[in-house]
Amino acid sequence: MIGVITGTGSWLPEQIVDNDDLARIMDTNDEWIRERTGIVKRRIIKEESTVSMATGAALRALEDAGVAAEELDMLLVSTVSSDVLLPSTACEVQKNIGATNAVCFDINAACTGFLFALNTAQAYFHAGLVKKVLLIGAESLSTLVDWSDRGTAILFGDGAGAAVLEAAEGELLPMVMHSDGARGEALTCKSPFAVRKSPLTVANMMKAVEKEDYVGMNGQEVFRFAVKRVPECVEELLDKCGKTTEDVDYFILHQANRRIVESIAKRLKTDISKFPMNLMEYGNTSSASIPILLDGLNRKGTLKRGMKLVIAGFGAGLSWGAAYMEW
Ligand code: UT7
Repeated sequence: MIGVITGTGSWLPEQIVDNDDLARIMDTNDEWIRERTGIVKRRIIKEESTVSMATGAALRALEDAGVAAEELDMLLVSTVSSDVLLPSTACEVQKNIGATNAVCFDINAACTGFLFALNTAQAYFHAGLVKKVLLIGAESLSTLVDWSDRGTAILFGDGAGAAVLEAAEGELLPMVMHSDGARGEALTCKSPFAVRKSPLTVANMMKAVEKEDYVGMNGQEVFRFAVKRVPECVEELLDKCGKTTEDVDYFILHQANRRIVESIAKRLKTDISKFPMNLMEYGNTSSASIPILLDGLNRKGTLKRGMKLVIAGFGAGLSWGAAYMEW
């Protein structure tokens, strides 16, 4: 058995923060951010939280799939920005939506998290342990970034995306997953609960916490890692499937930076039109970026049944991976 996506949903905070808004609170400008990242604006939470956005995305995905919450066997949330350490975000969402029969847990694999959650679910489907699974990627990284560090703060946005998977006949889909903890210092957040409070306020910027407690990133190292490892792992995946890039309709990549996506497309010698992006609108929403992108394409009708997709994530850990799937 395999899991097939039968419904998607997403939830974005109402507050829109564009590059000019950021230029008013830090030494940056719209031109630099657009040229170096492709990002034009992002959503930042005000009243919302990781749990509330995850719940909103979950309900929309269930509605899209026509599945009732009680039918779910498993509910996985990928997040690095849970509102509290315990209980897990997955259990909080379970409570909110009434998924009383689901086993629920969180996965922390940063921007690769949704991909790892998807692959984990596929292994459960293959083992015959589950029939209906809800996957969610939900993040409020605005509460973790150092708003005085223009090198990272301009990148991230908040949001949540979700997908319902249902069991169908089929062979386990090829998947590729890698981790390299030895390079973990390239992207860290040492003490999240020390730094979290309302984002985008001067008070938050001036809080007496260690700089390293916030998200800290060696941007160039992460950039080089992504543009090398992601094409390699996509090629490894396609080899495993006996496919080429020509067989793939869309490459659904983690939305970190337009230049990263363009560089990956170039290395795969594939036209950029096969690499849909939403980072212009939402910035880098970490583990939420892939399900938000899937939901946007699904609701626009871009994705048609039978289309072949490669989904690839990369980020802190360092971690990266890819999966092949039929829509
Ligand atoms: O989900 C995975 C998460 N992480 C990533 O995807 C990050 C991957 N890395 C990147 O996307 C890029 O490295 C960044 C967008 C973060 C930075 O772009 P870059 O082209 O690597 O810039 P840089 O760090 O080499 O900085 C170039 C210059 C520096 O000035 P000098 O030293 O040349 O005078 C920076 O101080 O740009 C300056 N700079 C900025 N200027 C205006 C850095 N950030 C900004 C800014 N506005 N926001």
